[in-house]
Amino acid sequence: DDDVFKFYLDGEWKKSSSGKSVSVINPTTRKTQFKVQACTQEEVNKIIEAAKTAQKSWAKTPLWRRAELLHKAAAILKEHRAPIAECLVKEIAKPAKDAVTEVVRSGDLVSYCAEEGVRILGEGKFLVSDSFPGNERTKYCLTSKIPLGVVLAIPPFNYPVNLAVSKIAPALIAGNSLVLKPPTQGAVAALHMVHCFHLAGFPKGLISCVTGKGSEIGDFLTMHPGVNCISFTGGDTGIAISKRAGMIPLQMELGGKDACIILEDADLDLAAANIVKGGFSYSGQRCTAVKVVLVMEPVADALVEKVKAKVAKLTVGPPEDDCDITPVVTESSANYIEGLVMDAKQKGATFCQEYKREGNLIWPLLLDNVRPDMRIAWEEPFGPVLPVVRINSVEEGIHHCNASNFGLQGCIFTRDINKAILISDAMETGTVQINSAPARGPDHFPFQGLKDSGIGSQGITNSINMMTKIKSTVINLP
Ligand code: G3H
Repeated sequence: DDDVFKFYLDGEWKKSSSGKSVSVINPTTRKTQFKVQACTQEEVNKIIEAAKTAQKSWAKTPLWRRAELLHKAAAILKEHRAPIAECLVKEIAKPAKDAVTEVVRSGDLVSYCAEEGVRILGEGKFLVSDSFPGNERTKYCLTSKIPLGVVLAIPPFNYPVNLAVSKIAPALIAGNSLVLKPPTQGAVAALHMVHCFHLAGFPKGLISCVTGKGSEIGDFLTMHPGVNCISFTGGDTGIAISKRAGMIPLQMELGGKDACIILEDADLDLAAANIVKGGFSYSGQRCTAVKVVLVMEPVADALVEKVKAKVAKLTVGPPEDDCDITPVVTESSANYIEGLVMDAKQKGATFCQEYKREGNLIWPLLLDNVRPDMRIAWEEPFGPVLPVVRINSVEEGIHHCNASNFGLQGCIFTRDINKAILISDAMETGTVQINSAPARGPDHFPFQGLKDSGIGSQGITNSINMMTKIKSTVINLP
């Protein structure tokens, strides 16, 4: 089949020997948009071998040269923003403008990573022995950061380009090689992004991109003895990967149920604007989306009215028209969201809008008076449906937030900074935003989840450090 996009191995674009392909379904038309190669385990072996070989000489390539190539890739990526964004629109129904933003943000991330890498990897430590009891000044310790080897990157469908480069760039600047397994929805955008790295002139085998069915190559990749580090963003699969992976560093970001706590003294217009942006941008398909509003009863009516008015202004339709709300990624995702909505309906939630769905397109829906016995109070819809739980005390809000098995981010709206800090300290989440919706960026900020939301911390600096190991050389004086 000539219309199947090739995978990338040893600096070349190849067809899989399986002769099979995987279809990328356009969420809007629900028809096959593209096809990618269904790679085999044998091809995975070849990719890992090539990555191992390439890494050896890459580790010896001067840091400034690695940075130079990354800057080049960043510039090419930005030049290619229009065709890559077009893939994002067709593959994951990302609104047209947001799709362009994702690619530009990715170029910026790669450049920043190159700059940060030359700084933090260009320094080591020098320690002397006589600070520890019983020692004379007879030992000098020199430390530096060395690469881990082969890094496996598995990004999710919602940012197939940005959450790929947030793993690729730190790995490469630190002297690792990189194997990318893109999500099927978004695979072609990712292949195009890899092409930009190809054009920048990285050595053969240093970056590879393998596509295919999770059932065929998923476990094989994540349990492969040649892989020295896994950086994964996505859903529950990450928990399974963590359990099966070998003794290697893992970076996992596995979703969230980000709570938005609204106190009585909050600026309700500001809160409403952030709830709508946080809850409904990219139709709620962000790990950092506002996923439950916990509002103090005395201001709940006013807040719900303001949010409702803003929800009414959201445009609903195809991503090509840059609508705010676009079809969710798959039919099974839409069915899951509908299941949560029906459960809430049956248990008596107040529907602020009528529930409406056409294919994968779900109209934005605010559910008021949600109670803890409803699934939507705890589960992550990853869609344009937002529950409001009314609370009678701040403690109740904190308790709801901490009762979740997730702990990614949260946010608080109040004019009282002292209260905000106390609540932030009490919330068991990796980040708390004061007076703004949760968000991962700016991309050099630390980004981490507690509990089932993940392992390790991301953000440019943390990712570079995580993809290296400390090496010491001790000079022993006579
Ligand atoms: O979906 C998870 C992403 O890491 C969220 O990133 O906050 O920039 O949308 P974002």
